[in-house]
Amino acid sequence: MKSHFISFKKVSGSLEELKVVQDLYQETPQYFLNCEGKLPVCNQAELDYKSLPPSTDFSQKYFYLIADHNAPIGVVDVIRGFPSQEKAMIGLFLLKESLQHQGLGTLVFSLLENLISEWREITALRIGVVRNNGKVIPFWKKTGFLETGEVKLWETDTMKSEVIVFEKELKPKLGSRTSLPFWDDEHISKQMLNCHLSFENDLASRKLETIQKTVEAIIKETGLKQGAKVLDLGCGPGLYTEEFSKRGFEVTGIDFSKRSIAYAKESAEAKKIPITYYCQDYLNLDFDNEFDLIIMIYLDYGALTVHERNTLNPKIVKALKDKAYFIFDVYSEEHFKTLTNASFVSDYPQGGFWSEKPYSLKKDIFLYPEASADLTRYQVRHHDDVKTYQIWNHSFSLEALRNVFLPWGKVNKINFTLSSDRENEETFFVRFDKEL
Ligand SMILES: C[S@@+](CC[C@H](N)C(=O)[O-])C[C@H]1O[C@@H](n2cnc3c(N)ncnc32)[C@H](O)[C@@H]1O
Repeated sequence: MKSHFISFKKVSGSLEELKVVQDLYQETPQYFLNCEGKLPVCNQAELDYKSLPPSTDFSQKYFYLIADHNAPIGVVDVIRGFPSQEKAMIGLFLLKESLQHQGLGTLVFSLLENLISEWREITALRIGVVRNNGKVIPFWKKTGFLETGEVKLWETDTMKSEVIVFEKELKPKLGSRTSLPFWDDEHISKQMLNCHLSFENDLASRKLETIQKTVEAIIKETGLKQGAKVLDLGCGPGLYTEEFSKRGFEVTGIDFSKRSIAYAKESAEAKKIPITYYCQDYLNLDFDNEFDLIIMIYLDYGALTVHERNTLNPKIVKALKDKAYFIFDVYSEEHFKTLTNASFVSDYPQGGFWSEKPYSLKKDIFLYPEASADLTRYQVRHHDDVKTYQIWNHSFSLEALRNVFLPWGKVNKINFTLSSDRENEETFFVRFDKEL
């Protein structure tokens, strides 16, 4: 069996390296004939090494020699942050002609994609294919590139053709946290709070009636009596905390949104309800043997990555008294089956949820079936400025949750009826009983 060991080396511009590149060019005559209308000139490697698209600088240029078991086999040229800051443009992707059509191109491209996925701001790759060299189009389509519809004139001193532009969305790494935090953005946090407080819909919080029913059901389920200590993780504006407090429980709420906590504190003071609030990341939870019940409601547990859940679980267990409960809701595996990879684009000329200024929004949904995870990525563009926000979700089976909490106690499903049928089918509540 043939084995490959592919590596990428960034060309530093030394004469020696440029000679290796130039020698490789001699072995790819067809590419130059198709794209340039002539064979490479004697200093082609140097010209390519130095060439840059308009308005870019050399720090954005990544000109690589590709080797297989240390033997040079090709050249790749990528411009990072071109034509806009969140894209990278492949200017050249060349393999020795004698090595083409053996699957090596796919292997080299997948390594290139891995390498570029480390460039955190880059969310899409572009390539322009000269129509005259159109035989490579099936290769790019197979690797996931789609035509953008842009076609540009292509002219050299010996030929005229067109460049067809293709683009590929890069799938963010499972569990990556690369996006901007939005919970303290001035505009977005205001929109978010409005969503929490608009009780006609189930957007950021469920309807008040559902919240009250849920609180009643949790009290019944746990049998907890007045005076028991309750902690609400991700309490938002305090909708659940107030309901527990009104029913005689001693309540603490934690949320890292300054705006939500400020609202929750004001609301509790105005209603003279005694609740302790902390504006804090609950991943830094630090209580010991303190609470009879911890809740985390509205599918927030599954918005955490595996790594974050592994951090949080033991902290929750530690914060609970010896016989106590953690109640939370999650998306079911049935929900995951309803999802598909998708992309949407829309314009908001009057501004909207993500910005008060006019913007265009690209929304991509990526599925990760190996982890029952999905990621919704929002790219908010004002002219050349693009802000990226990501929201992870995970779907669970009861069995998976039982395994996670096995070292500390039992997990059981709770039968709640929520206000919408869809929610009843696609989400479920669980109760973890700490039993140490
Ligand atoms: C979907 S909302 C639900 C709010 C509330 N439980 C409800 O149903 O009304 C999730 C809340 O969790 C908060 N949150 C998310 N991650 C957090 C973290 N790591 N630390 C503290 N709060 C967090 C958000 O700010 C938001 O208020």
